[in-house]
Amino acid sequence: MLKEAPLAIVVCADTSNVKYDGAFWVQDIAASVQNILLQGEALGLGTCWCGVYPKEELVENMSKLTNLLEHIILVVVVAVGHPVEEREVRERYNPDRVHNETW
Ligand SMILES: Cc1cc2nc3c(=O)[nH]c(=O)nc-3n(C[C@H](O)[C@H](O)[C@H](O)COP(=O)(O)O)c2cc1C
Repeated sequence: MLKEAPLAIVVCADTSNVKYDGAFWVQDIAASVQNILLQGEALGLGTCWCGVYPKEELVENMSKLTNLLEHIILVVVVAVGHPVEEREVRERYNPDRVHNETW
């Protein structure tokens, strides 16, 4: 879908500017991507989270394509477009996957 999307948002981590010991940037990126998806939905747009990091080959190729500096890690590309179909929302909650107190 990326090829046809009118917009792609490339979400990256700047490893030269991390808080704490740097171990949390993956979670920061995931939260920001989720916010991008929610905002897209609010604007009536369609989005798709395309995972890049930590697949080395994808990271390497996509970084070359976007001409990134060494300390910038490309983590996710979000395709943004105009949805052509409405999908039914399925209930997938499975209580067996919820663990209380311990796993
Ligand atoms: C970490 C992550 C990586 C993803 N990478 C891709 C991807 O590379 N290509 C793609 O088409 N969708 C990708 N998706 C989107 C999923 O295919 C799917 O559209 C999304 O998770 C919503 O569907 P679900 O409710 O069935 O999970 C990714 C989603 C997540 C959370």
